[in-house]
Amino acid sequence: MAGLPRGSRRIAFLCLLVSCAAAALAARRAGASRPSHREDLDVSIGSGGSGSGGVGIGIGIGGGSSSPPSSSPSPSEPRACDFENERLYRAYLVIQQFRKTVTCDPMDITRSWSGTDLCSSYKGFFCDRPPNVTDRTIASVDFNGYMLRADSLQGFVNSLPDLALFHANSNDFGGTVPPLAGLQYFYELDLSNNRLAPATFPTDVLGLTNATFIDIRFNSFYGELPAGVFCKFPRVQAIFVNNNRFSGSLPDNIGQSPVNYLSLANNRFTGEIPTSIARNAGTLLEVLFLNNSLSGCLPYELGLLEKATVIDAGTNQLTGTIPASFACLRKVEQLNLADNLLYGEVPDALCRLAFDRLKNLTLSGNYFTSLGSCCWDLIKEGRLTVDRNCIQWAPNQRSHDECAKFQQRPKSCPVSTYLPCRAKYGGSSEPADAAVEEEEEHAAVEHRYRTYSALHP
Ligand SMILES: *[C@@H]1O[C@H](CO)[C@@H](O)[C@H](O)[C@H]1NC(C)=O
Ligand SMILES: *[C@@H]1O[C@H](CO)[C@@H](O)[C@H](O)[C@H]1NC(C)=O
Ligand SMILES: *[C@@H]1O[C@H](CO)[C@@H](O)[C@H](O)[C@H]1NC(C)=O
Ligand SMILES: *[C@@H]1O[C@H](CO)[C@@H](O)[C@H](O)[C@H]1NC(C)=O
Repeated sequence: MAGLPRGSRRIAFLCLLVSCAAAALAARRAGASRPSHREDLDVSIGSGGSGSGGVGIGIGIGGGSSSPPSSSPSPSEPRACDFENERLYRAYLVIQQFRKTVTCDPMDITRSWSGTDLCSSYKGFFCDRPPNVTDRTIASVDFNGYMLRADSLQGFVNSLPDLALFHANSNDFGGTVPPLAGLQYFYELDLSNNRLAPATFPTDVLGLTNATFIDIRFNSFYGELPAGVFCKFPRVQAIFVNNNRFSGSLPDNIGQSPVNYLSLANNRFTGEIPTSIARNAGTLLEVLFLNNSLSGCLPYELGLLEKATVIDAGTNQLTGTIPASFACLRKVEQLNLADNLLYGEVPDALCRLAFDRLKNLTLSGNYFTSLGSCCWDLIKEGRLTVDRNCIQWAPNQRSHDECAKFQQRPKSCPVSTYLPCRAKYGGSSEPADAAVEEEEEHAAVEHRYRTYSALHP
């Protein structure tokens, strides 16, 4: 507080009153009160670094610090020797520079950004030691939900050389994605739900070879997704690009990526689901193709994703019958194929997955004409939805005319009957599984799955 001149404090206050009030309201409505719902990705550095309580600040180097840290900061600019180490002093200069560019701060975050105690008192900044470095330094910046506004991040994020994480969900940052590839320790990028200038996929991001987490959802990126997204990040766990304006076909090399959580939802992708997706079988846990304009036949290869718990290809223009391979999705819990152009019989073997993990099979808004016998039970249990199809005896079906018209369309998809796994019949509900499911049932669906969580700003 003391570091902030009177004049600028008044300006900040005015800004809060005039322009931030609406932003604050909007952001609160958008749920910014649960700021970092994906911190549980288990990839955060240390425990945030701030726990160590500012030991040793101001001692050592030079010994020129006359006042104890933060309790009574001197009104003059601190000097290099007032800081725990040189790295923190340089970070201090960068942060002060950035602070001047913050034009909205409804939660009064930047007020804490003064004095020499970066590691304990600066909100949003966390210290840690990079590998083989003895000095503590700014390793992580987490602004999730802070609603800060600045026209650019250039000269800030990219000027903190030891940064490993930058999380800025639900702020109001504009401009382009800063060049981060020079940051040797960097691995987690979250620029979701900001006001970044409409642009194609930021190619500089492809230089983040050690990235584990790439989240640019809820921005205005457009154009094709570069193939590099699926081959430049050998350690990536999550890629969230949903709710942008990406278009064109999905890169053929999608299967090259070791990604666990992939959300492509709510864009304008066209073309087929690349069959290389089969190569993700060992790693892919959740994938959302939801709400694009994908077409072509529902690929056999999706059925090979033996580890996947969520497969959502709803609201596209996919056609064909459900390949027999889908009966091999032994881990799948949420399977959504609703609102496509699928037809034929819903295989009994698919519905039998409910004896394994399947909790929610959504097939509404297609042109299916019949159901395997187990499927009827699932409808009764509320685990299968087949509204708006062409299934005799099922409730809420399309009109006879609508169904007849679709029937007449030429159909070119192969009927895929090959079963790439050993067939399994009957229930196998192990008691352990049942207990786990019971427990999970209490958590809301959208919070249990990382990709579905990513559909909220
Ligand atoms: C750290 O130091 C050790 C031993 O000196 C070395 O083997 C290792 O490669 C270094 N790691 C990094 C990231 O520099
Ligand atoms: C990725 O990490 C490795 C070792 O941890 C390091 O040598 C390399 O420079 C890093 N890559 C980038 C682009 O920083
Ligand atoms: C579906 O995607 C379109 C186009 O990207 C978007 O305008 C629309 O809001 C999305 N629908 C939902 C329910 O998110
Ligand atoms: C089942 O999945 C559909 C499609 O994703 C979703 O709209 C619905 O809320 C889910 N229902 C339950 C009970 O999880």
